[in-house]
Amino acid sequence: SISKSSNVVWHQAEITRKKREESNGHRSAVLWFTGLSGAGKSTLAHAVEERLHEMGAKTFVIDGDNVRHGLCGDLSFSDEDRVENIRRVGEVTRLFVEAGLITLTAFISPFRSDRAKVRALLAEGDFIEVYCRTPLEVCESRDVKGLYAKARAGDIPAFTGISSPYEEPENPEIIAETGTLELDECVDHVISYLREQCIIR
Ligand code: PPS
Repeated sequence: SISKSSNVVWHQAEITRKKREESNGHRSAVLWFTGLSGAGKSTLAHAVEERLHEMGAKTFVIDGDNVRHGLCGDLSFSDEDRVENIRRVGEVTRLFVEAGLITLTAFISPFRSDRAKVRALLAEGDFIEVYCRTPLEVCESRDVKGLYAKARAGDIPAFTGISSPYEEPENPEIIAETGTLELDECVDHVISYLREQCIIR
């Protein structure tokens, strides 16, 4: 069920998703990267995008850090605001998939129910959950942005994995072993999945 304002009527576009997919030469879908901060979501999403771009695919990456500079710049990291963050991104994702793009999103998206809601917003097969399974210890030892040290010191409230929960995916379409495998191997894994599902040729 989609929420809507009063007195609005859906306008059906003449240029449909199907027509866009035909001219793009591939299907559209979302690769929804989820995992802890520093798990490698953005790195993998951008690396997959580069590979797809070389193949001539139409793509776009929606990245948590970037979206929180604009569309979701008013939101904090409270549970409630994370729910709203993922809701907005889910709606944007729906538009991008409709636009025919292979959309790649990189959000911690720590709550199962929020990821399930985005999945439900899309058609069967459009939502590809990619769990970047880097363990907390590895994310914390890398600490690329220095946020884990700050969170341990109590300087960042509700930090995922430290003082705020991360609910692991139970049945992700793809598990990317971003803690142990090389980036290229993870990219290969995702690309193979897209081929198997006939999203790309
Ligand atoms: S969420 O949970 O999906 O709404 O988070 P997201 O929009 O992906 O934003 C995660 C990035 O914000 C930085 N950051 C924090 N992460 C987790 N908890 C807290 N409290 C926090 N504060 C700031 C952090 O750099 C995350 O970036 P990534 O790329 O995931 O490391």
